[in-house]
Order: sequence, then C-alpha cells, then structure tokens
Amino acid sequence: MKILIIGNGGREYAIGLKLQSETNVEKIYFAPGNGATSKIGENVLTSDFEQLAKFAIDNAIDLTIVGPEAPLSAGVVDVFKAHGLAVFGPSKAAARLEGSKAYMKDFLAKNNIKTAQYLNTDNKKEAFKFIDTLGLPVVVKADGLCAGKGVIIAQTHEEAKDAVSDMLSGDSFGDAGKRVVVEEYLDGFELSFFAICDGENFVSLPVAQDHKRLLDNDKGPNTGGMGAYAPSPLAGANLIKRLEDEVVKPTLKGMQNEGAPFCGVLFVGVMVVGDEPYVLEFNVRFGDPECEVLMPLIDGNLSEILLNAANGKLEAVKLKAQCAVGVVISSENYPYKNSPKAKISVKQIPENSHLVYAGVSEKDGEIYASGGRVLVCVGLGDSIKNAQERAYELCKNVEFKGMQYRKDIAWQALR
Ligand code: AMP
Ligand code: GLY
Repeated sequence: MKILIIGNGGREYAIGLKLQSETNVEKIYFAPGNGATSKIGENVLTSDFEQLAKFAIDNAIDLTIVGPEAPLSAGVVDVFKAHGLAVFGPSKAAARLEGSKAYMKDFLAKNNIKTAQYLNTDNKKEAFKFIDTLGLPVVVKADGLCAGKGVIIAQTHEEAKDAVSDMLSGDSFGDAGKRVVVEEYLDGFELSFFAICDGENFVSLPVAQDHKRLLDNDKGPNTGGMGAYAPSPLAGANLIKRLEDEVVKPTLKGMQNEGAPFCGVLFVGVMVVGDEPYVLEFNVRFGDPECEVLMPLIDGNLSEILLNAANGKLEAVKLKAQCAVGVVISSENYPYKNSPKAKISVKQIPENSHLVYAGVSEKDGEIYASGGRVLVCVGLGDSIKNAQERAYELCKNVEFKGMQYRKDIAWQALR
C-alpha cells in the first residue's frame, strides 16, 4: 500500500512509524510532515486540498490518513471523496463535533449523552443571567477552533462575564468566539477515550490520560499536552462499557440521524466525577500525545484497520498486552513564545523505547528543535511503572539547549 498522512506533528510521525513496520506498506508520504518524517517517508509540501488529491491520484495512493482537526474541519475528506479516493477521517459535516462546541453540546443534549449543564448563546445578557445561576468556578468556551486555547476556567462570576464579553466582541478569538458555551465546572479526573469508527461500527482503543499542564503536579499553564500513558488503570471494564454504550453508540446513531455518519477517530474527552463519566468534549482525530502511546499498543495491521474503516468495513483490532508512557520534551519557551533553533543530539536509544519527532526541522542530515513540543520519548513495558522508567531513561539520552519535560508523567496511574 502507498499511504499519505496529512499533518506535521508527533501524532503523524507516530502513525508513520507504526505503518513503516507493516510489510504491506510500500511507501509513506507526509503532507507537509516535519524534519524527521522525511526519514521514514517523503514529505510533500502542499496544503491545498485539490493539489493533495491530485498528488494522491498521480501517485496511486491507496489510503490517506488525516491527523489534525483543521483540515478535517475545512473539508479535506469531502474533497478526497469527491475524487473517489480512500480517506480515513470524518467529513466536514461530521467534524463539527469538534469544530463547533455549540453544535457538540446541543448534539449531546439531543442524544441524552451526559455532559456538563450549559448554555449555548451569542447573547451577552442571556450569558450573564446563566452565569449568575452557576456555582464557582464557571467554564466559558469559545464555540470555534482555537488551537486548544478557547476554554477559560473563571474563578469569579465577574471573570466569567469578562471572558464572555471579550469572546462575543471578537476581541479574544475572532469569529471563533462570536458564539459561546457557558457551563458548570466538573470536578473529577480526565480520561482520553478513543474509538475508531466506520460510520456505523466502532472499536475502542486502550484508555489514555494526557497531562495538559506544563509543570509537575499539574501546575503551570495549559499546553497541547506534556505526556500521556495507556492503558489507564483509572478506567475499569465497567467504565469502558458505559462509555461505549452511553457515549459512542448514541453518537454514531445520532450522527447517522444528522445525515453525517462519523468515520474516523472519535476522541471523547471524559471527566469522571464520582463514578459518572461526563463528556467534556469531542475531538474528531487522535490526540497528541495520546496517539504516540496508542500506536505501539496496536498489534494488528494499522493500514488494514484504517483502510477497512474508511471503506465502512471496520474489523476487530488486536491489542498488545503492554503499557506505554510518552514524555514530551518541549522547547525552552513553550508554550509562551517561539524558541531559538537548537541541535538535537541523541546518545543512544535503549531497548523498549523509541523517539517520536514533532517540532523539528532538518539541515544537512542533523535534526533541530524548531519550537513547541519537539519530541516524545516513548517507553514500553509490561507495567506502567516499567514503561515509565524506560521513557525517562530515554529522556536522559536526549539533549538540546533549553529542553524541558515533566518528571511525573503517569502519576495518577502510580499513586
Ligand atoms: P476542552 O477543550 O473542552 O477539552 O477544554 C480544555 C480543558 O479544560 C479540558 O481538558 C479540561 O481540563 C478543562 N475543562 C473543560 N470543560 C470543563 C468543565 N466543564 N469542568 C472542568 N474542567 C473543564
Ligand atoms: N492531547 C489532547 C489533544 O490532542 O487535543
């Protein structure tokens, strides 16, 4: 098979790495890829959907996999399908589950899927009135895609109202904030639940946990995610079954009723309060860095799994009885501002660990940290503890100027 992967992050590198190990995969292309994906495939430097579809036709691509939310929300899958190409990912209409928080919340309500009590509005007065009925803190969300920055946890009613005013005026998030969701704060622990879907059927993957905050003990600013592990012992068989029955099944049915069957990865951001799972949000793609720990746990052939899903014929997925921990190493100034380029040196890669490259560029055969989340050190083992030790052993073998990483990834599993 020839496969095209759209995206440039660690998620896409991790998918490529998994595919590279499969005997039926002949060639992998990344669009646009990063400075390291060119070592496991070939980078294609265009982001125009029609040009990408033409590339896929001209190069006899058998399957295209879309990594990030932006091209999905912009309709890349619809363009590929119009050309009769096999593509794994939701249509533009189905991607609204992530692209519009207002749509997502109304969808959850309509399908009786448990979520935080909320108001969806573009009216300031109405929002203020609702805020006064809520306890503290209050959560305010911009409707549209904001690259993970559109959620404000306000500690006072005034702060919540200011956030609403800033969003509705277009000042803080432009058009993405012209509608807001105001909701009650849920106090519990978060899980990342993934289901590969073909429009009608699904298979669940091991439950993961992300670490959003920059610093140890969940301190510091929010980031795209500083590390992940799977499977999480916090998700027992009963909870998983409830997520399948009470969230994934009604979502697939509901999307069929909307005329937008969901094919792709349904990523449920779950908050567990007491024993009750609430849907915080949907994403319509693999999480990053969750994908980096899920890929090595898939025993089956990913290219076949995703091609079958794209064709509406999903089959069972074999999983390894292993654990994976991924520690993100980020650049010096992440997440505040850009960082200077820094040459990465790797002493050695110990057994049962590997590197996944994200924010990197390449020059004269050397890999440079180019900002943001630079790479992920993944450790595998027969327990979370074991996998964690291996991930951190690998971290010690990586060096670049200004590198930073958390020392407590997977802490909730090891308490
Ligand atoms: P979202 O983009 O909706 O996942 O929100 C980003 C982060 O904000 C989540 O990962 C949670 O940590 C937090 N968050 C969002 N909604 C709520 C809520 N209703 N209660 C508590 N925390 C929330
Ligand atoms: N790791 C969370 C996300 O990809 O949105």
